[in-house]
Amino acid sequence: MENKEVKILAIESSCDETAAAVVVNGRKVLSNVIASQIDLHTLYGGVVPEIASRKHIENINYVIDKALKDADTTLDDIDAVAVTYGPGLVGALLVGVAEAKAIAFAKNKPLIGVHHIEGHICANYVENTELEPPFLCLIVSGGHTHLVMVEDYCQYKILGKSRDDAAGEAFDKVARAIGLGYPGGPKIDKVSVEGNPTAFDFPRAKVTGSEYDFSFSGMKSAVLNELNAHKMKGEEINQADVAASFQAAVVDTLIARAMKAVEETGMKKIALAGGVASNTAIRKAFTEECTKRGIDFYYPSPILCTDNAVMIGSAAYFEYIKGTRHGWDLNAIPNLKLGEKYE
Ligand code: KG4
Ligand code: ZN
Repeated sequence: MENKEVKILAIESSCDETAAAVVVNGRKVLSNVIASQIDLHTLYGGVVPEIASRKHIENINYVIDKALKDADTTLDDIDAVAVTYGPGLVGALLVGVAEAKAIAFAKNKPLIGVHHIEGHICANYVENTELEPPFLCLIVSGGHTHLVMVEDYCQYKILGKSRDDAAGEAFDKVARAIGLGYPGGPKIDKVSVEGNPTAFDFPRAKVTGSEYDFSFSGMKSAVLNELNAHKMKGEEINQADVAASFQAAVVDTLIARAMKAVEETGMKKIALAGGVASNTAIRKAFTEECTKRGIDFYYPSPILCTDNAVMIGSAAYFEYIKGTRHGWDLNAIPNLKLGEKYE
């Protein structure tokens, strides 16, 4: 690794947060600015792609300006410009990619495209400065559920993933069905504290063919069926009990797959990443299980779990020292797979 400090300006605009950050050597945060559009999309019960793109355009210059000011730096002092180029909403991604290319071209700086999920994983390096690969990582976000072996910096092996809905998607859909609204994850997390997690026995879905894959769609349907059955009988259903029971089923499913991976790989380190990783019940269950097994457990602060640009700046640093540089033809790739690279 280089001794010189590498200061990266990172941009993230893959979904509904316009974010910019300045990060040094992948682990030291000089600034972290996030303009959330959640309030706007809440009106529609979910992210509206067209509105997201327009809002990114309105916010991006301000957000970058603030990130540079908060970091007490200028574009001249930056060593590289990093940007999320996939996966995500194509219109939203394009705003960040075009902006990053324009800055890098105008200032003659290297351009580094970053995979959004790799960013989520790298969020763990920021606050856990001693964390180094190899380790297992469970990424649970609004769009993705992946169980991954982080073999080295920038080197990932997917062990399992969701066959249908992502964990966060299931949280959002169940929340909507029980009248909690958007975004569902944090609301289910909160209301579950007052509920009974054993009130309903929702399925801990197994996936045939792969012991590491997930399926959340069946779990979501079981919740909907339960709600319908009560409605038909004219019975009230306890919102907190449904939320807590659904959350308990998600927790059990995640723990089962993750611990299977721990046993079979012999890995003594596991990390969580993605928006759902800020869930209190999931963190608690992993903390208890890992303590019992003598495994080191890592997770980012909630602000680094949901979408942010610090994680992109961290992932970009490890790509930078490996020599990754993108050209002016870098494009947004909405369905970019983990481990896939834009050449
Ligand atoms: O990682 P993220 O910000 O965006 C994607 O890349 O998808 O994740 C957003 C997801 C949403 O589905 C949201 O409901 C969920 O993370 N989420 C939570 C919590 N906070 C956010 N899910 C469960 N419990 C939470 N506390
Ligand atoms: Zn994300």
